[in-house]
Amino acid sequence: MDKINIAIDGPAGAGKSTVAKMVAARLSYVYIDTGAMYRALAWRALQSHTDILDEASLTSLLQETEIEMVPGVNGNKVYVNNREVTEDIRSSEVTASVSAVSAHAGVRQKMVTTQQQLASRKGAVLDGRDIGTVVLPDAELKIFLTASVEERARRRHLENVEKGRESELQRILEDIEQRDLKDSTRKESPLKKAHDAVEIDSTNLSSEEVAAKICGLATERIQGL
Ligand code: DC
Repeated sequence: MDKINIAIDGPAGAGKSTVAKMVAARLSYVYIDTGAMYRALAWRALQSHTDILDEASLTSLLQETEIEMVPGVNGNKVYVNNREVTEDIRSSEVTASVSAVSAHAGVRQKMVTTQQQLASRKGAVLDGRDIGTVVLPDAELKIFLTASVEERARRRHLENVEKGRESELQRILEDIEQRDLKDSTRKESPLKKAHDAVEIDSTNLSSEEVAAKICGLATERIQGL
């Protein structure tokens, strides 16, 4: 059967990665977590004491940083220069730095090219902020996933608690509001809904319900090929 590419964009904590993993598993597609790629560079910048506001330094750091995404049942395992950083890139330090790292045009250009290569054989589900608008403007199915800020903060908090990470609800809420503002007002590829994306508000929907909706839409698109 012919395969399509699926772009899932939306603000932090809308449930994109959970849903993208489910959709990829059901369709036997590859899941690519593009946020993890920006997090991997932010992690490396912190490790090497690179100034995250300095575009030239970050772009040259990226040239010598090999970021490898290995698809698995629980999402992508992430390696930076052969060291596994899957958990490290979720730390609060990385989370606090990643918006600044991802705001630089030089960084985005290289990341976007890599992401396009990863999706070039079709059969990929990518989640991020600019997948439907910049990375895969021709994706056969584009989803813009949203949820209220309170619900997004609550989900992130629960996820942290489940994984035994340090977590404070109010701080997460403020962090999400900050990141929403930065991601949607930055000059380079700000977070915005593609004109041909289907918007799904997941505030009152379970991940299963959202994944079922997306799989239904995907089936329609595949049949229409
Ligand atoms: O989805 P996430 O929280 O792991 O994303 C981390 C950061 O990377 C987030 O602040 C926005 C940025 N990002 C981006 O600019 N473009 C993408 N395609 C994915 C993430």
